[in-house]
Amino acid sequence: MNPSLIYHVTSSLDGYIARPDGRLDWFDSLRKADEEYAFQYFYSGIDALLMGRGTYEALLKRGGPWPYPGKPCVVLTRLALPRATDEIQLTHCTPAQAVVALNEAGFQRIWLVGGSLLAGNCYTAGLIDEVVINLVPHLLGAGIPMLATGMERSLTLSDQRRFTSGTLQVHYQVQKQVSLPRQIPAPRINAA
Ligand SMILES: NC(=O)c1ccc[n+]([C@@H]2O[C@H](COP(=O)([O-])OP(=O)(O)OC[C@H]3O[C@@H](n4cnc5c(N)ncnc54)[C@H](OP(=O)(O)O)[C@@H]3O)[C@@H](O)[C@H]2O)c1
Repeated sequence: MNPSLIYHVTSSLDGYIARPDGRLDWFDSLRKADEEYAFQYFYSGIDALLMGRGTYEALLKRGGPWPYPGKPCVVLTRLALPRATDEIQLTHCTPAQAVVALNEAGFQRIWLVGGSLLAGNCYTAGLIDEVVINLVPHLLGAGIPMLATGMERSLTLSDQRRFTSGTLQVHYQVQKQVSLPRQIPAPRINAA
C-alpha cells in the first residue's frame, strides 16, 4: 500500500470547518448512526493521525476522554502542551518531516485531522493525497475555512455517499505535482 495523507473533514456548504470562534455545534448534534458508522469504518482504516495545535487545543477544551483512541497522533506545535494520552506526540517540525517520519515508523495511511492552517500548508506543500469532505447542509456565513491557504487544482471524484442527516460525503483523489522531500532529517516517531 502506498503511503497516503488523507484530509477527512466536516465542512459547511460554504466551506467552513468551524465557527469564527471555533465552535462545532452546527454539526456535532446532527451526526446520525449511518454517519457515525461511516466514520468508524474510515477510522479503522487509518494508521495514525496528524493535527495542528489549534485542533488539539480545541479537543482538549471540549474535555472528556480522548476521542481518537488506539492510534498514534502527532501534534505539530512549538508549545509544550499537556498530552491527553500516551499515544500523542507533540513535535515541532514541518508537516513533510512528520509524514516521512510516520511512514518510516510503518504508518501508511495518515489522517490529516486539520485544522485549516495545517491542512492549507500540507496542501500547498503537495502532501495531501485524498480529500474526504462531509458536506453539512448548513451555511455558516463566516468561520474557519477548510484550507487557510490554497492554490488551483483539479481533483478526481472517487466516491460519494448520502447520509440521513442530509450530509453528503465526497471523496476525492488529489493529483500530486510536488514530490515528497525524502532527504530531510525527520523526527523519530515511535512505532505502535
Ligand atoms: N470540522 C472539522 O472537521 C474540523 C477538523 C479539524 C479542526 N477543526 C477546527 O479547526 C480549528 C483549528 O484550526 P486552525 O486552522 O485554527 O488551527 P490548526 O491548523 O489546527 O493548528 C495550527 C497550529 O498548528 C501549529 N503548526 C505547526 N506546524 C504548522 C504548519 N506547518 N502549518 C500550520 N500550522 C502548524 C501551529 O501552532 P504553534 O504556534 O503551536 O506552533 C499553528 O498555529 C478548531 O476550531 C477545530 O475545532 C474542525
